[in-house]
Amino acid sequence: MHYKEQPTFPKNFFWGASSAAWQVEGATNEDGRGVSLIDLNSQKKTPFADNSVAADHYHHYKEDVALMKEAGFTSYRFSIAWPRIYPDNSGVPNKKGIEFYNNLINELVNSGIEPIVTLYHYDLPLWVDEEFDGWYGRGIVEVFEQYVRTCFTEFGDRVKYWLSINEQNMQIVYGHWLGTCKYPETWFKDQWKVNHIMNLCHAKAVVACHELVAGGKIGPVPGMVPIYSNTGNPMDQIARLNAEEFTEKIWNDFYVHRKYSNFVKRYWEENDIDPGIQDGDQELFDQAKIDFIGVNCYRSNTAAEAKVDEAEQAYELNKFGIKGQLKFPVIPGQYKLVYNDYVEYTDWDWEIDPVSMRYVLRDLWNLYHLPMIITENGYGAHEDVDENGDVNDTERIDFLRNQIYQVGLAIQDGAEVIGYNPWSFTDLLSTGNGMAKRYGLVFINRTDDDLRDLSRIKKASFYWYSNLIKSNGQNWGN
Ligand code: BG6
Repeated sequence: MHYKEQPTFPKNFFWGASSAAWQVEGATNEDGRGVSLIDLNSQKKTPFADNSVAADHYHHYKEDVALMKEAGFTSYRFSIAWPRIYPDNSGVPNKKGIEFYNNLINELVNSGIEPIVTLYHYDLPLWVDEEFDGWYGRGIVEVFEQYVRTCFTEFGDRVKYWLSINEQNMQIVYGHWLGTCKYPETWFKDQWKVNHIMNLCHAKAVVACHELVAGGKIGPVPGMVPIYSNTGNPMDQIARLNAEEFTEKIWNDFYVHRKYSNFVKRYWEENDIDPGIQDGDQELFDQAKIDFIGVNCYRSNTAAEAKVDEAEQAYELNKFGIKGQLKFPVIPGQYKLVYNDYVEYTDWDWEIDPVSMRYVLRDLWNLYHLPMIITENGYGAHEDVDENGDVNDTERIDFLRNQIYQVGLAIQDGAEVIGYNPWSFTDLLSTGNGMAKRYGLVFINRTDDDLRDLSRIKKASFYWYSNLIKSNGQNWGN
């Protein structure tokens, strides 16, 4: 569909950016924050991704919010660190942790920036892992509910937009990378129990938000990677549907319809999987009606048929940002992912595909008819300051311009999109690549090995994005 007019964005559109506590805050041992499992995991990872300093946002939050204000932000998505609020199982919240988020939220609100808050973005408190077997034990549901109720009570007077669990689908599908999988030998079956427990936590958060936050709205944050079919071969089309079901649709259908689909129930039956559903669970799900969907989308994937006797291949990430190292998965009898000749790739072999943004928004809107906020989208790159002290990230500008234009087209197509919050505001730790893979509009002057001075340097994309958002999406620049 081509339109005669340029896209326009609604009045009061949320223009901002995104982050997550463990990737940006640092100060992991300060003011009573407890240890998180991700602190230990991230310190073990190669390449190095120690999160004890990260972007040092904990100490620079005022400066960071001032930069957001200068850029013209009307929203900022960030996450609360559960181990900062409950460092242990005493049931007593950590006052200093609450104070930090109160300060941050006040700074945002006083700057005219709407806080959009994620309750869980991978930083599981160590005590939850030790005392309840983490996401494997149903004991987590009660302590998660305690934590989210504290957040709603303490911050709900100023925070009206809440996100439950970041990329639950990715935490299940790629549990080995994201730290959800504790026992690799049994993960094939365990993942559905873990997923059910996450669904219970998500549902508890939805119900509590509606009970405790006047005018509060809450949604999930699926990691969306729209799947194309490799060819017109009907078996590739079925592979496309399989890939979509097993990586995102099972989750989205559940959030919206609040019951498991026939597709997944059939799969459990076929594979003798017991997801651990108990009496009373469905009653909870019935009450957990979401208000919107947070959409994380960076790239597309392309699927082809994988015959039953085809050799299995595990998904292998590109760890160092040297093109051509990523290995796509082959799942015999379901699907395989393949390179797509119609798109470019980043140094980490992620598809650069702006049209996928329009595709995903249109598709989700057609399926669920719920408002959407883009909660992540962005371009990861190797970067450093040049000899003049500038960061001239023209490739990121191109990426953002093309993606945002497609958001505009999706709105013209009729999708209800209420905000765009790319990843990320400042540089921060990538999940697997530390500071080597940067996403920020603002450069953080450090590398993995050298903390330098942690100063904030506005990249060229900061100025470009600022001009665009101050014109409410009219000034596209050169
Ligand atoms: C999203 C996560 O999936 O992707 C973020 O919510 C993450 O936490 C982002 O940082 C980019 O991925 P990566 O691996 O490049 O950091």
